[in-house]
Amino acid sequence: MSAARLLVTGVGGAVGSGLADALAAAPPWAEVVGVFSGQRSRDAFLARASQPVRARVRTVVRDLTDGPATLALARELGPAATTTVVHAAADVSWTSSLQAARRGNVEVTRNVAELARALGGGTRFVYVSSAYTAVEGWEYRNTYEATKAEAERLLRSDYADLRPVVFSCSLVVGHSRTGAISRFHGIYPLLGLIDRHEPPLLPGGRDRRIDIVPVDWVAAELAALLRRVADGDAVTDVVASSGPAAPRLADLLAGSVAALNRARAAADRAPVPELTLVPFRRWDFLRRSLDAWQVRGVAMPPRAFLDRLIGVYRPYFEDDRVLPPTGTVRACPPWTEFLDPAVGYWFARQPARPGTLLPTGGTG
Ligand SMILES: NC(=O)c1ccc[n+]([C@@H]2O[C@H](COP(=O)([O-])OP(=O)(O)OC[C@H]3O[C@@H](n4cnc5c(N)ncnc54)[C@H](OP(=O)(O)O)[C@@H]3O)[C@@H](O)[C@H]2O)c1
Repeated sequence: MSAARLLVTGVGGAVGSGLADALAAAPPWAEVVGVFSGQRSRDAFLARASQPVRARVRTVVRDLTDGPATLALARELGPAATTTVVHAAADVSWTSSLQAARRGNVEVTRNVAELARALGGGTRFVYVSSAYTAVEGWEYRNTYEATKAEAERLLRSDYADLRPVVFSCSLVVGHSRTGAISRFHGIYPLLGLIDRHEPPLLPGGRDRRIDIVPVDWVAAELAALLRRVADGDAVTDVVASSGPAAPRLADLLAGSVAALNRARAAADRAPVPELTLVPFRRWDFLRRSLDAWQVRGVAMPPRAFLDRLIGVYRPYFEDDRVLPPTGTVRACPPWTEFLDPAVGYWFARQPARPGTLLPTGGTG
């Protein structure tokens, strides 16, 4: 029989991989089981994981939308003295249909909660959620926020015996020193837009705060919560956000462009031009005018692509509601320290674009 077991769903994802790193050397877990949706994501995780992580994590593959197959894990894993389930698997898309988001977030949570129950009395459930949602008094900006909250409500109403604890984090970016992260969600598609299409202007409220946090700090806070759970301490929900220390959108964009240009200079690529932020009202007017007057010479990304991407970010660029930090051990490091490595790591993994090379010897 295994002593203290930790079962982590979504261990191959951005947060899950960070947690695996944080747990690699950490007591008190006798066994760490990591759940993957498929063989490919498991193989990719093992290929990039450090040796201590590979040695620590017992991997299993399971499609968590499949209730009976998920429940069958209880038998396959064998008994353990105590189990803590960390449920980080989710459909994190901001554009999923309500049906798909419910399946990925609510049904999957129910299936994992049933598994937790089947793992025996005393099993604890730690639900990983977003600081950009809440179970009450919240106007949801997309199906992701709505279904993450719906899953939390389900846990509280139907699975109180698992004594669920909620760990919510804000937008995760790469490791605070190395910039490393396993998936590029959140602000990364915006970086891609700036790097690939070099738009001269973008819409958004200059003073809106964009709450970003580095993955190693999030993982350390989650690991600390898990330790409190294992020690049997009284545990309360944690919100890992940066709150008032979060950058204003104007500062985040300026900082991202500066970091991007440093990375481009190191790769002998010309800098992206200055980026102006305009209010949405002006943006909407400009977009209509460019079309109506068929203006040439203003280099803008392809219309459908730009509109889709801006549509995804718009709710966050207009409305910056986010839960304040609560119950963390340390404050989030300053964004000015971790933005540069995050952008640099992302940039180094983009396909080379020789068309924008600087003349030889140029540094931008
Ligand atoms: N990243 C952020 O900025 C952020 C911000 C706030 C909250 N969160 C929360 O943090 C948690 C993790 O997010 P993340 O950013 O790490 O997301 P992610 O990188 O997309 O990872 C999600 C994980 O869920 C797993 N998964 C999805 N559907 C599955 C299924 N049917 N069966 C088995 N596994 C499935 C995926 O497994 P495979 O890799 O094996 O396919 C993946 O590892 C989520 O609960 C999310 O709501 C994330």
